[in-house]
Amino acid sequence: MNDLVGAALAARLAAFAPFSKFLVGCAIEAADGRIFTGCNVESASYGLTMCAERVAVFKAISEGLRGAVRVCVAADTDAPTPPCGACRQWLWEFAGDCEVILANLSGEKARWRMRDLLPAPFDARMLGSGEPA
Ligand code: THU
Repeated sequence: MNDLVGAALAARLAAFAPFSKFLVGCAIEAADGRIFTGCNVESASYGLTMCAERVAVFKAISEGLRGAVRVCVAADTDAPTPPCGACRQWLWEFAGDCEVILANLSGEKARWRMRDLLPAPFDARMLGSGEPA
């Protein structure tokens, strides 16, 4: 658990956020214990900016991972920073009802389940393509 929070905090330091200056790190834990990380990457267009969570999900997928058991999001805020709506959708489709840990620079601040962060999700079941992750 501390490894996952530490990985998210370390990933945050690689954030490319020259416009917002809001650095975010994300770490995803696979069932076998492997950890995949991501940071936010901003574009001068603003709209093409990519959140840390989706960078982590895409990196994990491109490395062959399918599904995860735990995710940590780290940012420098007193109140925990939860994933944005787009990232909730991706986390749900990738990892289903995984555990989500929100951390700041002092460590873990809050714990959620994905089903509580994204109730009534749209997913593969609606397309008749089987169960979500
Ligand atoms: N950001 C994330 O990386 N994850 C979130 O869940 C919320 C927002 C980033 C996007 C942008 O680079 C900056 O934080 C400010 O919105």
